[in-house]
Amino acid sequence: MSERSETLPDDPFGGRHPTSHERMTGLPWDASYQDGPAPWDIGQPQPAIMRLASEGRFAGTVLDAGCGTGENALHIASLGLSVVGVDVAETALAIARAKAADRKIKIEFAAADAFELEHLGRKFDTVLDGGLFHTFDSEERSRYVASLASVTERHGTLYVLCFSDIGPDIGPHPVRQAELRAAFSPRNGWNVVAIESDRVQTRYHDHGAPAWLATIKRI
Ligand SMILES: C[S@@+](CC[C@H](N)C(=O)[O-])C[C@H]1O[C@@H](n2cnc3c(N)ncnc32)[C@H](O)[C@@H]1O
Repeated sequence: MSERSETLPDDPFGGRHPTSHERMTGLPWDASYQDGPAPWDIGQPQPAIMRLASEGRFAGTVLDAGCGTGENALHIASLGLSVVGVDVAETALAIARAKAADRKIKIEFAAADAFELEHLGRKFDTVLDGGLFHTFDSEERSRYVASLASVTERHGTLYVLCFSDIGPDIGPHPVRQAELRAAFSPRNGWNVVAIESDRVQTRYHDHGAPAWLATIKRI
């Protein structure tokens, strides 16, 4: 569980223990959304996620963990699925809700800590992580994986799209395949079905950065 403290009125982390990424940058995630689009916020769904969706790989109820301004979640919801997007950045959630209203898409965006997803009090058939896992250090990853397990239905599917460590022009937080396999193992209730090479588009890569798209089943 993440450490909680009293929420002080001017606490930029809202009572959360800052993540390793926030400690490294000295800023809460919300700050990334306050002055125009964040580097990863490309204003459209990630092509890898659109491809998964077009192949019918999202089924049942869907959770987007670390949804940002919601493009991926909105795309999946626009196909008629029941989708919840969660994030700790209230500014991103406000932008996501405004897009949903504008596009008349039925979807839920909620403030929630990825380390405490069990507080949502519900389970999902498909879970998406588009760029969250790779921001966590190894201690955070193990807590996050347990939190994901608590909200993923048995035999449910998790998709992790993260920066990879192979190829030119790699993104920040590159992840090795072995790290994915170590984090999601049968020992903690997961089975890695596939890890494929893909791309993550960003605002600063012309043709995207090398990525892994992992398909992981909840045992
Ligand atoms: C690299 S961004 C990716 C955003 C989005 N998935 C996309 O593709 O545009 C990572 C997101 O995870 C969110 N995040 C970071 N730590 C989180 C946590 N502990 N709980 C929930 N969301 C978190 C950030 O606020 C940010 O929106």
